[in-house]
Amino acid sequence: MIEFQHVNFAYEKDRPVIRDLSFRIESGESVGLIGANGAGKSTVMKLLLGLLPCEGQILVDDTPVTKETLKTIRRKLGFVLQNSDNQMFMPTVYEDMIFAPLNYMVSREEAEKRVDAVLARLGLTELKYRHNHKISGGEKRMAAIATILAMEPEAILMDEPTSALDPYNRRVVINTIRELSQTKIITSHDLDMILDTCDRVLLLSEGQIVADGPAGEILRDQALLESHRMELPLSLSRRE
Ligand SMILES: Nc1ncnc2c1ncn2[C@@H]1O[C@H](COP(=O)(O)OP(=O)(O)O)[C@@H](O)[C@H]1O
Ligand SMILES: [Mg+2]
Repeated sequence: MIEFQHVNFAYEKDRPVIRDLSFRIESGESVGLIGANGAGKSTVMKLLLGLLPCEGQILVDDTPVTKETLKTIRRKLGFVLQNSDNQMFMPTVYEDMIFAPLNYMVSREEAEKRVDAVLARLGLTELKYRHNHKISGGEKRMAAIATILAMEPEAILMDEPTSALDPYNRRVVINTIRELSQTKIITSHDLDMILDTCDRVLLLSEGQIVADGPAGEILRDQALLESHRMELPLSLSRRE
């Protein structure tokens, strides 16, 4: 469903960030994109959303991501960026959540139902009419996740979804992600979360994929992880 073909990208001339990157993700896969700070994870997400111009080709359902196709493609992809502050553009959580469903021709009644169901599922009913600029960072992150779930996209992209969350909300998000049947790409250095939510892992280092395989194998490979500035998930590290 998602394919990168020889993608190159640099923010600044002569400082390549993504280097000849190729991979393919099939419909329904849940893929964890891991790597140290600065490896290029967020950049991969932004490239996929057509937010940055690049060399090479990116395909979503065999359609190349270009200016002309962007609108159709974004409709298929629900995304939570690393900084969700920039993502909420309506005054309240409710208005943000209902915007996409209404825009995509769902009836108001159906849209309201979806919003209420998602809020209940995430334990956020109390946030419904709160103002987006008056809620905490963690609450904003939860609201951003709620917004994409209400959209019911074909694929879900989450960049560090649990980074601002307390342990309780982190668990709620993990359980919710596990229940979603859509294609998922999740970046994180919370490798326990990746282990809980993803079947496959792509390990990114200096803009290249250095490992691609089952999550249970890659996340157990201590030498591989440590050579790329990461550590075993806590749940897999043996403590004496
Ligand atoms: N707007 C920007 N301008 C210049 N360099 C950037 C910008 N955003 C990110 N970078 C650089 O690109 C590299 C990859 O960043 P990023 O994709 O955010 O990494 P990750 O999400 O894996 O931590 C880093 O070296 C980072 O400093
Ligand atoms: Mg990042």
